[in-house]
Amino acid sequence: MSSFTLDKERNPAIIILDFGSQYSELIARRIRETQVYSLVMSYMTSAEELKELGPKGIILSGGPSSVYESGAPLCDPGIWELGIPILGVCYGMQLMVHQLGGVVNAATGKAEYGKAPLEVDDSTSLLRTLMNGSTMWMSHGDSVESLPQDFTSLAHTNSTPNAAIACHRRSLYGVQFHPEVVHSLGGMSLIRNFVYDICKCEPNWTTNTFIDEAISQVQNQVGDKRVLLALSGGVDSSTLAFLLNKAIGNQLTCMFIDQGFMRKGEPEFLMKFFDDKFHINVQYINARQRFISKLKGIVDPEKKRKIIGNEFIRVFEEESARLGPFDYLAQGTLYPDVIESSGTNIDPKTGDRIAVKIKSHHNVGGLPKDLQFKLVEPLKKLFKDEVRKVGQSLGLPDEIVRRHPFPGPGLAIRILGEVTDEKLTCLRDADLIVREEIRRSGLYHDVWQAFAVLLPVYSVGVMGDQRTYAWPIVLRCVSSEDGMTADWSRIPYETLERISNRIVNEVHGVNRVVLDITSKPPGTIEWE
Ligand code: XMP
Repeated sequence: MSSFTLDKERNPAIIILDFGSQYSELIARRIRETQVYSLVMSYMTSAEELKELGPKGIILSGGPSSVYESGAPLCDPGIWELGIPILGVCYGMQLMVHQLGGVVNAATGKAEYGKAPLEVDDSTSLLRTLMNGSTMWMSHGDSVESLPQDFTSLAHTNSTPNAAIACHRRSLYGVQFHPEVVHSLGGMSLIRNFVYDICKCEPNWTTNTFIDEAISQVQNQVGDKRVLLALSGGVDSSTLAFLLNKAIGNQLTCMFIDQGFMRKGEPEFLMKFFDDKFHINVQYINARQRFISKLKGIVDPEKKRKIIGNEFIRVFEEESARLGPFDYLAQGTLYPDVIESSGTNIDPKTGDRIAVKIKSHHNVGGLPKDLQFKLVEPLKKLFKDEVRKVGQSLGLPDEIVRRHPFPGPGLAIRILGEVTDEKLTCLRDADLIVREEIRRSGLYHDVWQAFAVLLPVYSVGVMGDQRTYAWPIVLRCVSSEDGMTADWSRIPYETLERISNRIVNEVHGVNRVVLDITSKPPGTIEWE
């Protein structure tokens, strides 16, 4: 399977063997949180290869299979003899039991999903720091019926007698729950016990270590060739621009395509910031006219997104040919983007994950897969908050590192119906007021996104002695962890009042402000 290019100088302290769990990279991320270098590898990695890499510990991930079914992914039995501490998580624990002579069964009537309090029976090792009754996240249909020789049970739950197991003599451990997910309250503590107490790892993996190694990997990968990056001004592409600038300097060309749907002052801000201040080579492409003329008369949200997406690709192709040739395309792909594009099923022949289609709307603003470039994706294994830390360490200011997400199609999907220059001006002005007032109230970092939406309907109002007949602006403020689910933010009345007064008084064409109080689901964050 594709994994991080191995750095010859540094071997991973913890290797995670991936059996197809959606959480494999999350385990790696948790290990990084303990400042220990870890790497996810295919479950097919042989004991010989592992021995050569010399990790201090091995973690076997969960997975969707049942160990006793034919075709279930099994590991090289040689790994049990390596003398390296091993922690099996869920499927990983069942595999350990199965291969070492215990019994795993379909737990008829005993499947356990969701939170369960863990009753600790032996707190001498893996569970040393865990409180009795710690909530752990369970997700299993199968259960361990009987333990292999030399193993003991460390903990149980109401429906799982062997919720954590160990063979102390051989430093083999297994947990039926998922310590890596946030819902498992003592999870990080358990992971620390494994990493530090059992595997004796040193905390020496930091954001700066990541940056240094990513830089040398990029240098090795691209040599003296030219690299193109489509810069959007979001955290991911901005962090990438800084990283690549440090790695390859003027072999990097950034292309910033202004489709005309950016927030007020944004193109000017970005050019000033990257080009003037940091001397990163950014080519500004003014494509405003192209995009808006393509949207003339278009009201359907999906059509709008498709047109914008296609036009983006066309502009990108033309401009990269003009500025090129380039050998490499750099992309700010993050781990959550990768997981969306790969399934949890594993090809039994190659160990590769079987790809599934990405949700269509998050592709908008992205590039097609068949471009003639080789890809440079140094952030591919990171989660969003890790990218923020990398950005910060590289010297990106808070203004960029902690900015709210902004969709690829921009304000075009916040103007319902046809997009016109007049509506864009109106929405830009309203949006600026929302941002200013949310910042002024000190709420900017408490909310996930705060923005304005323009509705193409008219309502009656009165200003002075004049009757008005104008558009309403919707105020959309949400709190969220990852954008997948969201709740509407409880903004104080005083802030709402200031936003409403200012928008109605200062924005030409608007006479009413309404508040969106819909969570996601059932609503989405964006209106189109
Ligand atoms: P929804 O509206 O689906 O949005 O609840 C979830 C998150 O995704 C952002 N979003 C997009 N981001 N291209 C992007 O890069 C898009 O086409 C797109 N559509 C929605 C949205 O702002 C929110 O953070």
